[in-house]
Amino acid sequence: MTFSPDVLRFADGSDVTADDVKDRRLEILDLLAANAYGRFPPKPRAVTGDMEDTGERTCCGHAVEKDVTVAFDTPKGNYFFPVNYFQPTGNGKHPLIVCLNFRPDRYDKYVPAEEVIDRGYALATLYYEDVTSDDGDFSDGLAGMFDRPMDGTGYGKITLWAYAASRVIDYFSTLPEIDADEIAVIGHSRLGKTALWCAANDPRVKYVCSNGSGCMGAAYGLTHHEGGETLADITRVFPFWFCSNLLRYPDHMEKLPFDQHLLIAACAPRYVCVNSAEDDAWADPYSEQLACVGASPMWTLHGTDGFVGPETPAKVGDGFPDGHIAYYLRDGLHYLGRADWNHFMDFIDGKKV
Ligand code: GCU
Repeated sequence: MTFSPDVLRFADGSDVTADDVKDRRLEILDLLAANAYGRFPPKPRAVTGDMEDTGERTCCGHAVEKDVTVAFDTPKGNYFFPVNYFQPTGNGKHPLIVCLNFRPDRYDKYVPAEEVIDRGYALATLYYEDVTSDDGDFSDGLAGMFDRPMDGTGYGKITLWAYAASRVIDYFSTLPEIDADEIAVIGHSRLGKTALWCAANDPRVKYVCSNGSGCMGAAYGLTHHEGGETLADITRVFPFWFCSNLLRYPDHMEKLPFDQHLLIAACAPRYVCVNSAEDDAWADPYSEQLACVGASPMWTLHGTDGFVGPETPAKVGDGFPDGHIAYYLRDGLHYLGRADWNHFMDFIDGKKV
């Protein structure tokens, strides 16, 4: 099938070539910022981390629990938020997985820390509402630290959560035990949307996993399947996740200047893992797979493989990890489970240098 807009066509209609594929990425990011998620606030001048040893060894002694406070300057003073860090005790440098999470707890049903540590990764988790509340209050937390433009392109909450994940990377990539060339970000559902938007903008993210991210995440919107969330649904209930320009489109889908394959394409030539679950119709698994297909030509222009898998619907249990975009369909519900983490880590392990 053909995807709209065409990844390999600039907004002015001209073809994207291998020489200007980087410009196309910037154009896509601008399009998505201006029409979907809102523009990022300015980067801080300095980011620091205050790391406190809880004294607790965990994961059979293969990690130490550290409480980290990440702090940085904003136009309205300093802002800081906590991060749960599982610092590996093994020698050498470790790849880092940054997990955006729904709860502040260190030990959480969505975070199989011991499995992650046992596979040689360092792990940092942040609780999204420590960044800013999940509602329309733009005076809360980080949302209140900038003058938010009122021209329709002002940041939505997803942009702020993505911004915070980048600040975590600022600090953790300076640590001697972290391999700053091997940084991964994972998120589920609204935080899967956030993980993709973070990775699209932050080239230090080498691997991103979007789990059950659905509408305005990994799901291509124009092919809507039964039970799937629509742009009208999401903007009615969660308008504050996005910039207000997005509200122009639910009633005028023919004018929509982007679709979600572009969000994945903006991560090229890095690695994207899209996970879906069979009983998660709301996230529209098949449309998530199709976005992988639609994004793939961006990698081709980079001279490498994008999605190596079918355009016909995956079967439960299928996984297509051979290219730079992986797609997995597992059984079960909307959930960030061990199977999802294992798929992501299998994918990364297959690509690490
Ligand atoms: C709602 C929303 C989804 C979102 C999900 C979540 O169901 O409609 O778009 O992904 O919440 O974050 O759990």
